[in-house]
Amino acid sequence: MKRTALITGGAGFIGGNFLRLVHEHTDDQLIVVDSLTYAGNLSRITELLKSSRITFIKGDIVDTKLLAELFQKYNISVIVNFAAESHVDRSILNPGTFIKSNIEGVYSLLEAARKSWLSTEGRLFLHISSDEVFGSLPAQASSFTVESRYQPSSPYSACKAAADHLVRAWHATYGLPVIISSCSNNYGPWQFPEKLIPLTILNALEGKEIPIYGDGLQIRDWIHVEDHCRALLKIIQRGKIGETYLVGAQQEYTNGDIVHKICNAVDDFKSIPRGTTQKLPIFVDDRPGHDRRYAIDNSKLSKELSWMPYHRLETNLPLLVEWYARHHAWADEIRSGDYMKYYERQYGANKI
Ligand code: NAD
Ligand code: TYD
Repeated sequence: MKRTALITGGAGFIGGNFLRLVHEHTDDQLIVVDSLTYAGNLSRITELLKSSRITFIKGDIVDTKLLAELFQKYNISVIVNFAAESHVDRSILNPGTFIKSNIEGVYSLLEAARKSWLSTEGRLFLHISSDEVFGSLPAQASSFTVESRYQPSSPYSACKAAADHLVRAWHATYGLPVIISSCSNNYGPWQFPEKLIPLTILNALEGKEIPIYGDGLQIRDWIHVEDHCRALLKIIQRGKIGETYLVGAQQEYTNGDIVHKICNAVDDFKSIPRGTTQKLPIFVDDRPGHDRRYAIDNSKLSKELSWMPYHRLETNLPLLVEWYARHHAWADEIRSGDYMKYYERQYGANKI
């Protein structure tokens, strides 16, 4: 049976990649709601918007009136909530917008679903969360599991944690059919170049300094966005209501390592001697509250839903360098205007 799914934040990095996958693999009618913040960009999904199965609505998930209208107009049975402010550094500069979208927005969506869904049959509210809610993992500790304690450090992760608590409470109290999916750091095409990997690739391609925070020994667990999106499809198809699934590809690298690998990939891409681009990285002031390490134990997802990641970071970085070189015009367009003001504020003291 054809379903109607509401995908919020579908013009963002992960939401756009997910839209492509779900459009390809299901017959679902897809309603995309995105307020098109600086991070939202329709050029990510231009081709998809031609499909008769996709309807795009520019709107804010905080807007309860809009949500009520949407639930009245469409028989929405699945909600996949990607919409959020997503960049930790911006949450430090301006936490207010994170409180609004990442907490109040989730509250509005939960309430819209609760008021509209008279039965839970065939319904699902899938909330996209982050491993950052668990805070910093000590170097020798085993990876995060669903049992790990919530200890968020940044305004971003605190808001994501707050939203998770709301989602679980709406399940426990009102019986709303929810699932939470908490993922590690994503990389892949169409990522906004304020995040480490695309920022490093573009600066390296352009011969600009590459900022590494603190000592560069912080560890992130990287997953290709397509692997994340495939996991989400599995969770929608076979996930158990009320559960949380951790999504990660078990690829831990220090930030310094990532930058080093990208510099080599850029040298190879430009056919210049290896080592040339290694002159660009500079150590800059550390991020306040900077989490040292994240790592995900994905065994629940792989055992229960037979999911496994396909992509390896090592082999993907050269492909990604090529992708960002080919999409330089896109990156230039979205990096203009407000982004440059942010960049100067964030990195200006380091004269990058
Ligand atoms: P992104 O910033 O690229 O995209 C977010 C999208 O949400 C944008 O299109 C933006 O316009 C939209 N949006 C923001 N506030 C909105 C609002 N109030 N109403 C409607 N639309 C709004 O982020 P992303 O990297 O694609 O992340 C998507 C989700 O995945 C987020 O919830 C994020 O917390 C989570 N997540 C991201 C990562 C990662 O590595 N990027 C890892 C784990 C979890
Ligand atoms: P980021 O891509 O912002 O993701 P998150 O903060 O959600 O993990 O950053 C990834 C890591 O890279 C994080 O430890 C901070 C670091 N980083 C830098 O060292 N320099 C930078 O310019 C950026 C944006 C991030």
